[in-house]
Amino acid sequence: MSRNDLLSPLRLGALDLPNRVIMAPMTRSRAGKGDVPTAATAEYYVQRATAGLLITEGTQVSQQGQGYAYTPGIHTDDQVAGWRRVVDAVHEAGGRIAPQLWHVGRLSHPVLQPGGGLPVAPSAIKPDGKAFTPQGMLDYVTPRALETDEIAGIVADFARAAENARAAGFDAVELHGANGYLIDQFIRSGSNQRTDRYGGSVENRNRFMLEVVAAVTDVLGPGRVGIRFSPNGAYHNMSDNDPAATFSYAVEQLNRFDLAFLHIIEPLADDHQMSPPPGATRVAGLLRGLFKGPLILNGGITREMGDRLIAEGAADAIAFGVPYIANPDLVERFRRKAPLAQADRATFYGGDERGYLDYPVLEQAA
Ligand SMILES: Cc1cc2nc3c(=O)[nH]c(=O)nc-3n(C[C@H](O)[C@H](O)[C@H](O)COP(=O)(O)O)c2cc1C
Repeated sequence: MSRNDLLSPLRLGALDLPNRVIMAPMTRSRAGKGDVPTAATAEYYVQRATAGLLITEGTQVSQQGQGYAYTPGIHTDDQVAGWRRVVDAVHEAGGRIAPQLWHVGRLSHPVLQPGGGLPVAPSAIKPDGKAFTPQGMLDYVTPRALETDEIAGIVADFARAAENARAAGFDAVELHGANGYLIDQFIRSGSNQRTDRYGGSVENRNRFMLEVVAAVTDVLGPGRVGIRFSPNGAYHNMSDNDPAATFSYAVEQLNRFDLAFLHIIEPLADDHQMSPPPGATRVAGLLRGLFKGPLILNGGITREMGDRLIAEGAADAIAFGVPYIANPDLVERFRRKAPLAQADRATFYGGDERGYLDYPVLEQAA
């Protein structure tokens, strides 16, 4: 039997991928009026359509779920129509694409909220830092703790977003359960001090996540829903008193749903911005053993490391973030073992086509 590597095909849930190079979800804050994806959005993903799977930038499931200026939504008719044009263009180019369904929870600001209200969260704990709003960078505020009977409404927002994703023609969806956003805020003990059935025990803290997964898989069926976690990530003031126990339970429960994939951010190197804090127990290997479906790993992974992780069976596929910004033809560069272009951080978020559509492919660069 031949050894698998990044360029081997993979069955990922209901999808057949020509390779195991996944584009990681990346917010670029360039949506148009009404937070609608534009022709430039379509061009950006088409340029990268040779990926095994494109996972889009975080896409808010509701107005309440938005935390950054100019991020696309998937809750209005115009947004769904905009995504339909993106998906059609990617399919035309031979690619596969899944939106990342996102609710930011406390990582928002009243200027982005319906009626100027407070952002919502499991508990009224203010994150450090500032929100990127249409009025500039504004300090985060103390969020409002959700009432128990409001939670079903947010689960319904995720289900509606999944219906909209299907209407737009997407191949699958990824639920954003990582990086300190709403699902992660419920799961981890540092941001969840609830005393109702959504807080306290590991079972209770995972309840919201599992309700969202149940609702979204009900809409999309088997093999079309994935979920992303960052079990050890400290980003956005996140912490958990026992990540191994918390996420082992999460993953064991997820085995009931026939998911397309589990996507874990846990960089191997200590100097990556998303690396676990010093001394933290790494859990990706543990979760690999518990999860019955395909595993995508992410975080500072190079071609050489990716090939090795796949050959060793530590992952089925690898997601690449920053490398995909500057290398639209990342798969071809891997095939040729060609050098990678470096991304310009100044143009990561917001702005125009510079740093978005103008990174050349190899022939153009030569
Ligand atoms: C500009 C930028 C935007 C990002 N936006 C998102 C996002 O919307 N959703 C998400 O889950 N992760 C987001 N991330 C994290 C990436 O998906 C990825 O986890 C991170 O870049 C580490 O992978 P890498 O070392 O291959 O870049 C973002 C990263 C960058 C650089």
